[in-house]
Amino acid sequence: MVKILGISGSLRKASFNTGLMKAAAADVPEGVEFDTATLHGIPLYDGDIEVKNGIPEAVTALKQKIMAADGVILFTPEYNNSMPGVFKNAIDWLSRPSADIAKVFRGRHFALAGTSPGNFGTILSQNAWLPVMRTLGAELWSGKRLMLPRAETLFDQDGALSDADAADRLRAFVKAFADFAGAQNGR
Ligand code: FNR
Repeated sequence: MVKILGISGSLRKASFNTGLMKAAAADVPEGVEFDTATLHGIPLYDGDIEVKNGIPEAVTALKQKIMAADGVILFTPEYNNSMPGVFKNAIDWLSRPSADIAKVFRGRHFALAGTSPGNFGTILSQNAWLPVMRTLGAELWSGKRLMLPRAETLFDQDGALSDADAADRLRAFVKAFADFAGAQNGR
């Protein structure tokens, strides 16, 4: 089994990116286990809190999910042509203490995916992640790209992915990434 983890970078209930992640989890290729995570419960990074209380429980729990995965897909919204602050904040927490970067990120396979109501489907947000992931030593997979524009047309009233073409592209993206991450991890 290849273990893939999806992390949604949006906190809102009706998030298109969380919807995309859930659609991926509901339609997994054979031989793939797809776990999901959100950023709920992760506080704002504050170095004083880190010194006083250590790493928050929600951050440790997310670290453990990442470390159990062969590959991680960041489902990233785009805010002001970059990644949302809440998502960057979570990654900043995950990089603390810095000694943990080696366990959590270095050499681990990551992929970027996202959807937005605009015409470019999170391209600038995905670009903004590149230097961050490089800094952390992550192995960023670029075998396929998944940037879905006009998000409001892709989901039904219940927030389920209803656009057949988007669903096909999502499935192909997850399969290609899982094949790659699995092969890299000897699965
Ligand atoms: C946005 N949005 C947005 N969209 C985009 O394509 N490019 C952008 O630069 C921005 N900028 C932006 C800034 C802020 C502060 C907000 C709140 C929103 C719109 C954004 O893509 C939209 O709200 C999505 O629905 C957010 O993703 P989720 O929450 O649906 O996953």
